Amino acid sequence: MTGQATGQVEQERRRGAFSSRRVFILAAIGSAVGLGNIWRFPYVAYENGGGAFVLPYLVALLTAGIPFLLLDYAIGHRHRGSAPLSFARLRRGAEGLGWWQVGICFVIAIYYAAVIAWALRYTFFSLDEAWGADPEGFFFGEFLQAGDVRVTADVVPGVLLPLAVVWLAVLVIMALGVQKGIGATSLVFIPVLVLAFAALVVQALLLDGAAEGLDALFTPDWSALGEASVWAAAFGQIFFSLSIGFGIMITYASYVGRREDMIGSGLVVGFSNSGFELLAGIGVFAALGFMAQANGVGVGEVASDGIGLAFIAFPTIISEAPAGALIGVLFFGSLVIAGITSLVSVIEVVISAVRDKLDTGRLAATFAVGIPAALLSLVLFSTTSGIYVLDVVDHFVNQYGILVVALVSMLIVAWALRALGGLGAHLNVHGRPRVGAGWRVLVSLVAPVGLALVLFFSLRDDLDEPYEGYPGWLLLVFGWLLVVVLPLLGFLLARLPWRAGTHLDGPPPGSDPTAPLHANPATRGEGGPR
Ligand code: ALA
Repeated sequence: MTGQATGQVEQERRRGAFSSRRVFILAAIGSAVGLGNIWRFPYVAYENGGGAFVLPYLVALLTAGIPFLLLDYAIGHRHRGSAPLSFARLRRGAEGLGWWQVGICFVIAIYYAAVIAWALRYTFFSLDEAWGADPEGFFFGEFLQAGDVRVTADVVPGVLLPLAVVWLAVLVIMALGVQKGIGATSLVFIPVLVLAFAALVVQALLLDGAAEGLDALFTPDWSALGEASVWAAAFGQIFFSLSIGFGIMITYASYVGRREDMIGSGLVVGFSNSGFELLAGIGVFAALGFMAQANGVGVGEVASDGIGLAFIAFPTIISEAPAGALIGVLFFGSLVIAGITSLVSVIEVVISAVRDKLDTGRLAATFAVGIPAALLSLVLFSTTSGIYVLDVVDHFVNQYGILVVALVSMLIVAWALRALGGLGAHLNVHGRPRVGAGWRVLVSLVAPVGLALVLFFSLRDDLDEPYEGYPGWLLLVFGWLLVVVLPLLGFLLARLPWRAGTHLDGPPPGSDPTAPLHANPATRGEGGPR
């Protein structure tokens, strides 16, 4: 082994790794299955044609979701680094894309933790139905103490405490490292999540009115297929739900053994995530059918948007259904578990980038990233204005953060660097079924067109009327400014020097059997979206 190759092996040992492909797959499923599957998918599907949404959803999954997931895997697995290091190895000038993704993850982590904290509190509220007769008034009033839309420093202890617990748990997992922390958590949490959620779905299907709920979800409104916004919603859902385009899958893939099959793994992760999403849709709508029947109204009147569905409609169901406390613990407990395994993947993108750039130990990086993230999260989201800031940040970071960086990186990798050939060849060395021209066309043409459409319709809506009618200053500061600052910051961070000895030109020695040692096919014009 050459000196450089030995150094690389040593560096990879220090970065950490998943002990097997099975652990990696569980961790990747843990990342993908999150709050987006349990409260977002059912509502998005219902709003966008019900049963007819399945068609655009499947098209988005097969034409953009899975191909892009494989692209993320190829970048991380071949270049064996965090998002900034992997992009820097692909081409020095592309490093900023990685930092842009790191910034997005930092922002997502600080508000995602808050929703998990709410769910944690609601798991216990379910035991004695703490919301009484008015779940909506309880959620906004007694629990969040949300007042006028203005930023305040009035702390809500009932949110502060569970949020501190969530961060503590996440920091412990992160400090334990890739295998002992993230891998071990996934090994335990994912089977528990599957069992808890399966029990919830069975329980929900046994409720009176469950069939009406499923009818509402699955009765196709075929006219919806003619609406571009329905297709846009499907693409948006797939990107958030699969955790693709914002550094997570690049980072996780860099921790996988060099000889593993990344294509087969991607198919398992993609279809498991969608299977779980479908299960969530069935469980949630069966419960909504019960609630509609109990109140003598249509399902449409009880299905509300994301936050409302989980924290307002579900408490109502819990109060009215037989064995309601069990349903509550299963539902909110599942949200907590699914949320934690996603949150650790989001924050790992930042920790891994800091470690690669500064060559720090895991503990130091965990504190350097985790403490400021936890403090910001506590300051912004445990106050009486937390829910408004959260709603705005979530909307803008999803629409104009994740989707824009995904589109830009796809275009740069495919068209400016012409790197798809090399990346596809890398996947094919150990992966089956092989990817070929079809995959390159999907990644370089179909997926970008789909994403561009999503962005066009979102932008049109947001410019037509202020999101949710929020005041302009709130949308400007926590929405528009935030999404503009993130890429700028990303390209600034890319100017910081790498620690001495970091291999930057092309895939590290020995990681890519398709490339001659030290050569970077991307910089030699190899491949491209032919
Ligand atoms: N993929 C994660 C979710 O669905 C982020 O919530």
